[in-house]
This record gives sequence, C-alpha cells and structure tokens, in this order.
Amino acid sequence: MSKLTSLEIWQKLVSDKNRLLNNNVGNLFESEENRIDNYKLDVDGIYLDYSKNIIDRETFFDLMQLAKQLNLNDKIEAMFRGEKINFTEDRSVLHVALRDQSSDQLIVDGKDIKPDILNVLARMKDFSTRIIDGRLLGQTGKSIKNIVNIGIGGSDLGPLMTTQALENYANKHISVRFVSNIDLNALTNNIEDLDPAETLFIVSSKTFTTDETMTNADSAKSWIVSSLGQTAVDKHFVAVSTNREAVVAFGINPDNMFEFWDFVGGRYSLCSAIGLSLMIAIGPDNFSQMLEGFNSIDTHFRKAPLEKNIPVILALLSIWYINFWNVSTEAVIPYNENLRLLPLYLQQLMMESNGKSIDFTGNPVDYNTESVIWGSQGTNSQHAYFQLFHQGTRLIPVDFIGYINSDFDNDTIHQKKLLANMLAQSRALAFGNKLDTQNVFESMPGNRPSNVLLFDRLSPRTLGQLIAIYEHKTFVEGVIWQINSFDQYGVNLGKDIAKNIYSDLSSNNKTDIAYDQSTVELIRRIILKK
Ligand code: F6P
Repeated sequence: MSKLTSLEIWQKLVSDKNRLLNNNVGNLFESEENRIDNYKLDVDGIYLDYSKNIIDRETFFDLMQLAKQLNLNDKIEAMFRGEKINFTEDRSVLHVALRDQSSDQLIVDGKDIKPDILNVLARMKDFSTRIIDGRLLGQTGKSIKNIVNIGIGGSDLGPLMTTQALENYANKHISVRFVSNIDLNALTNNIEDLDPAETLFIVSSKTFTTDETMTNADSAKSWIVSSLGQTAVDKHFVAVSTNREAVVAFGINPDNMFEFWDFVGGRYSLCSAIGLSLMIAIGPDNFSQMLEGFNSIDTHFRKAPLEKNIPVILALLSIWYINFWNVSTEAVIPYNENLRLLPLYLQQLMMESNGKSIDFTGNPVDYNTESVIWGSQGTNSQHAYFQLFHQGTRLIPVDFIGYINSDFDNDTIHQKKLLANMLAQSRALAFGNKLDTQNVFESMPGNRPSNVLLFDRLSPRTLGQLIAIYEHKTFVEGVIWQINSFDQYGVNLGKDIAKNIYSDLSSNNKTDIAYDQSTVELIRRIILKK
C-alpha cells in the first residue's frame, strides 16, 4: 500500500463510504435539520450549493482532515511564493502572478517578476487599443479588422473559450478567429473569406516549436506573402511566446513579440499574452476585469479556511467520488450557451494536469487520479445524454453552472426557463421519484450527486472567477494525489512518433520501416493510397 492509502484518515474515509452506501441524499436531507446551511458558501458574489452530495458532517470533516494531513495550506503557500513546485521541470508555477495587477513585488530566482508582467500587459493594452480604434494599419494602409490566433492546446483553448463566452462584450467591428488543428480545413475555413490586407495573425506558442502551430503559421505566411509580398510579414504577424530565438527565425520582428515565461504553464496561460486575441475582442478594460475576477479567487483560495474554500471543497468532493466511490467520469454542465466550450477547456486544464500515475517520490500510485471530464451546455445536454445520468448504471457527479441574470436586459422568459431546467435537473438527480413497482421503467432512483455554482451574470469578472475556481480545484487534487500537476510528459511520445511517420510518408519509404506490423500496414496503405 502507498503512504497515502495507508493513512489512517484514508482508511477512515473508506469506512465513511461503507456507512453512506446504505444511505442516500434524500435521507441525508431528512436526517440533517437545515442541511442546506451546512453545505453552502457565499463568496464574492458566487453561491455554491454542495448539499446534494452523498456526504454527512463526519465525511466532510474527514475529507478536511485528509487535506490538512497532506499539508495543503503549506502547498498553496509554496505555489504563491514561487517555490519550484513543478519539480520535474524545475520551475515555479506562477500563473497567479499574472492577475495580480498591483505592483507588489514577487521575487523569483532573485528577481522581481512583476515589472515584466506589468510591462507586457501594458504593451498588450496599447496594441489592442490601436486595433480596436482602427489605428493599426496593414501593408496597404487598410486598418486591421480580422485577427487570427494560430495556436493549439493552452495557446488556443483559453482565448477561444473565453472569446466565445464573452461574445456579448466583444467589439463587433473586429472579427477574432482561432486556428488550431493541423487539418488544412481549420486554416482554410477561417481565412477564405478574409482580405489579407486587413488580417493580422497572432502566432501563439509557448515553445514556438509545436508542429500544428508552426505548420499553420507557415501556410498563413505564404497566404500573406503571395498577396502582399514578403515585406508584409512585419505588419501582419505578431508572436506570443517564451522563445525569442524561434520567433526571430520564423521571420517575426522581435518588436512584434509579446513575451511570457516558463513559470506559466500552457494550460494556465490565458492571463498572459496568450490572452491577446481575447483582449482585442473584448477590449483592455474588460480583460482587466477578468484578471480581477481571477485575482479575487486567488486571494480566496490562499486566505479562506479550508472548510470555507470553494476550490478546496470542490476538489475534496471529487476525491471522495473518484477514490472512494470508484467514479471515473465527472460532468460540467454550464447553463449558458456562450460557455459551450468550457468543458473542452476544462478537459485540458484538469486531464493534462492530473492525468498522471507516478507520485512525487517516483513510484506508481495505487489509487485513481483524474477522472474523465466532459459535458456541454444545458439545456441541450439534457436531450442527449442526461438519460444515462438519471437511470444509467454509473455514478456521474455533475457540476451545474448557472447565472441568475440573463445576458439580455429584455429577456423575461428564456433565462427563467433555462434556470428552471438547471434546478430541475439537480433536484431530479438527487431525489429521483418514488419507486413505483407498477412501472419500474419510469422509476428514478435519485442519489446522484451534483453541485450548483450560481453567479450573478456571465461577465469578464465572473468568468475569471469561474476559471480560477477550476484551476485551484485542479491544484488541490494534485496535492492530495501526490502528483506533479504541472508537467505533461505524456504527450511527447506521440509527437515524436508522428514526426518519424511523417518523414516516412513524405519520402514514400515503404520498405525500411521499423514499426510494429499494424503501423507498417497502415503506412503502406496510405503510401499506396489504398
Ligand atoms: O501537447 C501539449 C502541449 O504541450 C500543451 O501543454 C500546450 O498547451 C500545447 O501543447 C501547445 O504548446 P505551445 O504553446 O508550446 O505551442
């Protein structure tokens, strides 16, 4: 048994689960007077209701004990202080520094990192304001009106998801698009209706070596050069990266580069210059509001007691289900159409961070780590897969995310119906209906856990809060599971093999292929085109 699973408190949680197996959410409400008062939180305009979980006071206490025994508070402090908690890459983890807009010092490796952060933020503001005002001109003197972000993973999903989420805050005269897939459809679909003279590409890549991004950037460069000439690259390309050398080698003027740093992980980089396309879409003031929302949760996470800490509670509930109830998937269902990409964003955040099976000591874990995170917007999801939530054989905890106010001032009907659906689903999952032996097919067992996160309205600030909640939830899970949430070695092998296969496919090399039989046959068919 590992050190974690042999902890007395871990074993206590195993017995909590066995005790609660014979109980259910309905009974828990009946037996605990004013249960709601014990399982809700109000934090800076956010209401969290976690009462419909299969937990009681004893379990809640034990989960908190687990976090305390694993020194969660010290670990949180270590991150905020800039200690090199990403120990496999010997890096600090300081995405939180990006949203602290104060000039308070933060010393890393003997240097205050805040001036550089604020300087890049100021350059981003100046640049996006020039675009929004129509002052940034392309090669032919026309104003830039189209922004195409080329990037993938953390250099795409953050700005893509948030630009869509904040569509109602966007400058309508600017079109902001995202190209990520190496499939040529992605680039073509996004640029075929654009005038190159009015188009700016933002090549976003932390490493500036990612094949998808560099291939798309090369093709975008050819598109610009073929219509505007070689000298147009200067006016139609900017870069966001940590790798100045590679940016220059690509042909982008270093004056047109927005820098970020190794202490910002790709999937945590939205608040760095990776957010440039979002800033252009919604304007610097809204971007700043978003940073403030992030910062409000950063402060809450760092300062609030564990028992009243939203990310901590959400993380421990996931641990409860994943490690003690054998849950393998969790759903996140935002009840706002513009948040439809949130589950996709959270997939990278949580699954790339915590999809690990080697612990801090280099030993394999003997417990489960991250579940499969998935979902899509309500109410659509209700008409697709909620049947399985309600009557399927698996336990799938759900996070419902809702907004009290509509995005539209004149909306008197839609938002109430939307919210009614969200509340109805959470209630039906928890309490089901009375078992009717006459019609067993219609019986709903209930006892299916969910959380409800309720915000005032979807705004830059509340979006920042929401993302920060999940970032810190991911951090807490990593601490409990004793894994490094901040590397991603698991993606490398596939990248390396793809490089080799690409060179075989390009050289039509069918004879000398050192792969397994399956891969060899697939390569052969592709080369022979049959
Ligand atoms: O393939 C995984 C990954 O390294 C992610 O972690 C990262 O967000 C993405 O690729 C893109 O990387 P880059 O910003 O260096 O192009």
